[in-house]
Parts: sequence; structure tokens; C-alpha cells
Amino acid sequence: MSRKSVFLLAATVVMLYFSIILFMLSPLHGAKSSYYINVNNYMNHFGYRQTPQVHWCKELKWRVPPSPKVTALVSYPGSGNTWLRYLLQQSTGIVTGSIYMDYGLKAHGFPAENMTDGSVLIVKTHGVPPLDSESYKFHSAVLLIRNPRDAILADYNRLYKGHIGTAPKYVFKKRSPNSKISDWAAHVYQQLRDWEGLHYKWLSQFPGAIHIVFYEVLVRETRKELNKILQFLNYTVSEEDMNCAMLNKEGIYRRKKKFQDFDPYTKDMYKGLDKIRQRILRLINVYQKKNNVTFVGLKGYL
Ligand SMILES: *[C@@H]1O[C@H](CO)[C@@H](O)[C@H](O)[C@H]1NC(C)=O
Ligand SMILES: *[C@@H]1O[C@H](CO)[C@@H](O)[C@H](O)[C@H]1NC(C)=O
Ligand SMILES: *[C@@H]1O[C@H](CO)[C@@H](O)[C@H](O)[C@H]1NC(C)=O
Repeated sequence: MSRKSVFLLAATVVMLYFSIILFMLSPLHGAKSSYYINVNNYMNHFGYRQTPQVHWCKELKWRVPPSPKVTALVSYPGSGNTWLRYLLQQSTGIVTGSIYMDYGLKAHGFPAENMTDGSVLIVKTHGVPPLDSESYKFHSAVLLIRNPRDAILADYNRLYKGHIGTAPKYVFKKRSPNSKISDWAAHVYQQLRDWEGLHYKWLSQFPGAIHIVFYEVLVRETRKELNKILQFLNYTVSEEDMNCAMLNKEGIYRRKKKFQDFDPYTKDMYKGLDKIRQRILRLINVYQKKNNVTFVGLKGYL
């Protein structure tokens, strides 16, 4: 190579180098990349591609005066807790709280995250009494129960994709070294024990009044079930407010169903799911008889 071409090559390399640096430092690119980083962080946490817009029937307020009695909204994760909070906020205009601080929810329609006193309508928890001291503070509880098959799957999706996404199929096949069963299978059996423990403990150890809501019934008969919950909370809403809540009942917090052609549960898992579900339904039956209350006919469930 001649000296001239070596020089030209070196000059080209240096120019390329500097133009790359300039490109990376340019404000447009800088702004864009930070925008993408934000969106990605946001997606990881919450599962949205774009900032979702929540349309509220009326401006959300805190409860004034605060209620001296605090009611818990108890559910196993993945059971529609956020959706029910959304419906309650739509119909009452009062914020709902949580024993957790979910920054994604706080930024998108749930300003009372990490609020557990009477200034909110109800307080979300996935906690278990009496191991969790938080539960002692509650005067009463709404227990939202979803069948464990869908709840465990919805929660698994949340672990991978935030509040409204679905996990890719391959994650159901992954197996850790030294494990005889897939990570998903290990997860299912563990979660099934947790699902039973949560419901068992609330139904048998919580001293306050419990109102039971089945997620599946809430989906089918939203207005009727919501009215029953509001009655339990001693909170009256106008027909107009209820109508508005029903017009907006879908909200943005419901996961689209996917995998209609793919069932991650095996026969063995179904056996376990069914056994534990029946045990809890029988316990609910006992609770209803003992407390002379009827939340819902269990015939279709048992
Ligand atoms: C939640 O609230 C408590 C008590 O008000 C406060 O000490 C704590 O810092 C809050 N947590 C977060 C993550 O904001
Ligand atoms: C609703 O009112 C009844 C009757 O006054 C009371 O016993 C009950 O504790 C109240 N429920 C809640 C959730 O405050
Ligand atoms: C059970 O509740 C019904 C109405 O809700 C009432 O008529 C009945 O007397 C109650 N029974 C007992 C044993 O308290």
C-alpha cells in the first residue's frame, strides 16, 4: 500500500469515529434513546407499550372524613384485584389503597398505593393472617377468589410481562439444572399450596366479617356483584355513577386472553388444581353456614 492510501484509510477511520461520537451526542439521538429506555423500563414493570389513558367517570378523591374501619381487598395474585379496584374507583370516585407500593399502578390511576388507612375505600393485600401483622389492622375483608388455574397462569404472565401481557410459550418448558420437573411445574405446585393457604387462613382465622366475591361471577354479573360489595362497604352510589362505571368496565387493566391453542397445564396439574379448589369451596360452604350468609350459589362451583 502506498503512503497516500494508508493516510487516506487512517483519515477515513478517524472521521468515521468522530461522526459516530457526534451522532451519539446529538440531542435528537440523546432524547430518543432516553425515551426508549423509559418506555422499556415502563414495559418491564407494567407491560404497556404506550402510556395508557384512564378515563375516570369523575375526579378521584380521598375519603372525607376517613372511615374509622379499614376493609381489606384480599386476593391471591392474578385474581383481578386491580380490575376490582378500578371498578370501585369508577363507581365511587374514591381512591383505593394498597399495602404495597406499585409505582406503575401509582402512576396510572391508583394514586393511593401504599395507603392503608381509612382515607381510602379499600386496601389491597395478598397477605395472609395472622403471619402478616398488616392483616390485624383490618376490620373486615372482601375476599376476591379466582379459580387457581387462571390465577396462577395470570400471575406467571405478570412475572414475565407486567400487568397485562402474556409470557412467551418457551418459558413453560424451561428446566433448572438438577430439577426433575420444569420450572413452571414447580411453580404451579408451590403456588397451589399458597393459593390454598391464603384462602384457608382468611376464612378460618380472620376475626372480622368477610364478603366473598368470585372473579368469574364478577365478570359475568359485574353490576350486581359490585353493588353487593358496595353494600358490604356501606357505601352508596347513584344509579348514574353505576351506569358510568358499567360503560367503562373494561378499563385497561385486563389481560387479553392468549394461547387458546396452548394449555400449559398437565393432567396431573389439573388433578391437583381440582382437589385444592374443592377443599376451599367446601370451606366457603362451611363459612356461609356458620355465619348465616350467602355470597353466591356454590352449586355451579362444587
Ligand atoms: C409507604 O408509606 C410508609 C408510611 O407512610 C412510608 O414510611 C414509606 O416510605 C412508604 N413507602 C414507599 C415505597 O413510598
Ligand atoms: C357496615 O355497617 C354495619 C351496620 O352498621 C356494620 O356492622 C359494619 O361493620 C359496616 N361495615 C363496614 C365494612 O364498615
Ligand atoms: C339467617 O339470616 C336470615 C336472613 O338473612 C334470617 O331470616 C334468619 O333468621 C337467620 N338465621 C339465624 C340462625 O340467625
